[in-house]
Amino acid sequence: MSYIIPKSGIDSINPYKGGSHNISEENMINLASNESSIGPSPNVIKSLNNINELISRYPDGSTFLLRKAISNKYNLEMDRISCGAGSDELIDILVRSFAGPSDEVLFSQYGFLMYSIAARCNGAIPVAAPEYDFKTDIHSILSSISSRTKVILIANPNNPTGSYLNITELELLSREVPNNILLVIDSAYAEYVEKDDYDSGISLVKKYENIVMTRTFSKLYGLASLRLGWSYSSKYIAEIINKVRQPFNVNSYAQLAGIEALNDLEHERLIVKINSENLPKLINGLELFGLKVLPSVANFVLVKLRDSDYTNSLYKYLINKNILVRQVTAYNLPEYLRITVGNISEVDILLKTMEGFVKNYNGK
Ligand SMILES: Cc1ncc(COP(=O)(O)O)c(C=O)c1O
Repeated sequence: MSYIIPKSGIDSINPYKGGSHNISEENMINLASNESSIGPSPNVIKSLNNINELISRYPDGSTFLLRKAISNKYNLEMDRISCGAGSDELIDILVRSFAGPSDEVLFSQYGFLMYSIAARCNGAIPVAAPEYDFKTDIHSILSSISSRTKVILIANPNNPTGSYLNITELELLSREVPNNILLVIDSAYAEYVEKDDYDSGISLVKKYENIVMTRTFSKLYGLASLRLGWSYSSKYIAEIINKVRQPFNVNSYAQLAGIEALNDLEHERLIVKINSENLPKLINGLELFGLKVLPSVANFVLVKLRDSDYTNSLYKYLINKNILVRQVTAYNLPEYLRITVGNISEVDILLKTMEGFVKNYNGK
């Protein structure tokens, strides 16, 4: 027994388990973490060669050129952009800055797992608003607000469900959330969404002082390992983030790669095209097995299987066949699997492999 006791909330955290936890990834088809199916822009790789001298120097703590590139691309004010070591870091900084012991941090029932971890890390109370049909319910969110609510986090689209709130719903939520509560719109998968009624949240940040939008380079841009995310907020909130973050939170390679990634529009379009072709192929293939697949606007799907034993067996079977998907037991969904939309050969191999299992499963 140790006499050194962490602050309140830490003991109750179940550590976040990434998709490849404890599994050798050699020769694996990795469909577990919603990463890019074809990797980053070739310009990113080129720019990262021959820059060894950057290792011995601290990175630009103000991420000036990266923020400038983001600002140019989306026509945003530079001093309202903040960069982080992944959007996870920004989420943590925001929760840390605005919620403390006995405050409540509110999110949707199947909202991204890091929200409750960020709340607990900071001694705050995680509160999950019920969902109906695996979609964030704005009325449920609004009715879960209490006098202790300090931060609301909404992933749009949401991971692991793949569902999204349209701009009308998001606008209504933004209008109704009291202006002393921070509303974080986590748009990690925004670049994949092709719906006309979708808005990443930028228009709402411009309208409401208490809203922050977070984005990541880990998904469409294929830079997950470099850890890079950004946020757009009021200048006031950006200044708070700037006070709380580590001075050199974004390394030089991530900054350089982020700029190159943003500038390669062709690569971006290619990824979106591949996803929009392969997502329906994956869904159709799974549905042909008689499985229920939740509608998704992102680069992954949530699939319902017969029961948790079946799900476990399929998960293990796929690992034996060198295919890694994601169990979502931590979301209290033991009979579901989350599967990233891979490239076309990965989709084909997954479906072929699953066919063998679906035909032969005898419940053992
Ligand atoms: C909804 C959502 N938000 C945030 C993140 C964190 O992304 P990162 O920290 O890699 O930017 C993820 C990663 O899976 C996610 O799914």
